[in-house]
Amino acid sequence: MSGPSRPVDAGEARAVPNPVIHLDSADDPRVTDYRSLTDAGLRRRQDLEHGMYMAESSQVVRRAVAAGHRPRSFFMEHRHLAGLADVVARWPDAPVYVGEEQVLEAITGFHLHRGALAAMHRPPELSLEEVLAGLGTGSEKQRLRIGILEDLTDHTNVGAVFRSAAALGLDALMLSPACADPLYRRAIRVSMGAVFQVPWTRIHPWPDGLAGLQEAGFVVAGMSLGEGSITLDALVAEDYPRLALVLGNEGAGLRAETDRRLDARVTIPMMPGVDSLNVAAASAVAFYATR
Ligand SMILES: C[S@@+](CC[C@H](N)C(=O)[O-])C[C@H]1O[C@@H](n2cnc3c(N)ncnc32)[C@H](O)[C@@H]1O
Repeated sequence: MSGPSRPVDAGEARAVPNPVIHLDSADDPRVTDYRSLTDAGLRRRQDLEHGMYMAESSQVVRRAVAAGHRPRSFFMEHRHLAGLADVVARWPDAPVYVGEEQVLEAITGFHLHRGALAAMHRPPELSLEEVLAGLGTGSEKQRLRIGILEDLTDHTNVGAVFRSAAALGLDALMLSPACADPLYRRAIRVSMGAVFQVPWTRIHPWPDGLAGLQEAGFVVAGMSLGEGSITLDALVAEDYPRLALVLGNEGAGLRAETDRRLDARVTIPMMPGVDSLNVAAASAVAFYATR
């Protein structure tokens, strides 16, 4: 049960026009959004069900809001409110939950050393056609590069691919339906906010939806360790104006049915005795080479 709320002090009340709610108890039912943040599986189900995601750290909250995303509420120690007051005040209807370190930690399941959290409304997922239209695929001269992630399970890898994509100028990333969520807080953190910068969506149905890219003039090339691959240098020499590079799952690589849809298979040559590159490392090499 939640205890009685401590009256908010004058400094807190003056800082922002939002309702500022002091949490006296970890059992407060108003902060369900902030529970069990360390359980990735549970959060995936809960976040999708509630159409939300969690922004962690004052900097990430700022970037999310700058990208046009809307907060449901904010959650932080009192001392961080002043630093975020300008962002918080832009959303005066969003409650601000404040509390002592121990209470916040008991709710989230981890030490909140990054200052603030915000429960954010998840932006609506765009269709492949909408993302392509946003990239200007209607204009025949447009040169474009897209990365596609099939069934990556590790949020660190997803975040790292987004970071490379932003740094190396990819136009968009596309994900298979089962690929780990770029808006999971670890992926956001590793991406350094690039998940808010690089346009992305999921391809449905998978992998047949890849045909939509081929119809828009993309050569769909799978990054692959399998038979019949050309080298990355050979792909670069082709100089395809529109190129989509598909990266496979960390363990199994590309699915057989995806492999059948490819226009080309591409290998980054490696030294003997090495099984493969980490998928995020492979993406960075391929994105750089095809820039
Ligand atoms: C860790 S690897 C998966 C290894 C898996 N045993 C396989 O046979 O594909 C994950 C993904 O990274 C990419 N990758 C890793 N090393 C690569 C390389 N040397 N050349 C091309 N792609 C590579 C591929 O897309 C691969 O599906």
